Amino acid sequence: MPLKKIAVLVSGRGSNLQTIIDNIEKGNINGKIEIVISSKKNSYALERAANHNIEGMYIGKKNYPDIDKRNNKIIEILQERKIDLIILAGYMSILSEKLVKLYRNRIINIHPSLIPSFCGKGFYGFKVHEAVLEYGVKLTGATVHFVDEGTDTGPVILQKAVNVDSDDTVDTLSKKVLKIEHELLPLGVKMFCEDKLQVKGRKVRISID
Ligand code: GRF
Repeated sequence: MPLKKIAVLVSGRGSNLQTIIDNIEKGNINGKIEIVISSKKNSYALERAANHNIEGMYIGKKNYPDIDKRNNKIIEILQERKIDLIILAGYMSILSEKLVKLYRNRIINIHPSLIPSFCGKGFYGFKVHEAVLEYGVKLTGATVHFVDEGTDTGPVILQKAVNVDSDDTVDTLSKKVLKIEHELLPLGVKMFCEDKLQVKGRKVRISID
């Protein structure tokens, strides 16, 4: 099976990008990262890409202030490189409907809660964990899902829960969830790259050989 060509879209620290890089280097994922696109100019994620000789590029509000032009530039880069899979790894910008339609069921996102709880507009970064603690739920977790036109509404691929303990803070909870993200995202990407994910409506079927 040919290696899947992967683009990773990032905005910050890039710890999820790092897990993908590490898993590819270990031979766990049948793919190659062709490009890392960052919506922030000096993100640490771009540094991580450079450390592994992966091409990195800044496409953000400063060099492409117009949202349509920005998205069209991203599409151009993806098409030039014949990208099979787009991974949103902490990408904090909005993708255009055009891009989402072009790459239907080929864009994977990681979200730090159990969707459909604590997701959608306004639920990003620490805000998710703050809301979890504020609500008092006993479980939270991470979700890997395909991206559709909505915010965090696409078909769910994988989920895993963690306990919310009474002494948890945003800091401890985000660390617990991040640990799970680092397990789930490479696993979802691995499955995609082995053609093991079939999407029917909202349901994602994982084939086991
Ligand atoms: C992660 O918590 C991810 O779920 C969310 O943004 C964060 C990105 O972290 N979408 P990193 O940049 O991968 O370290």
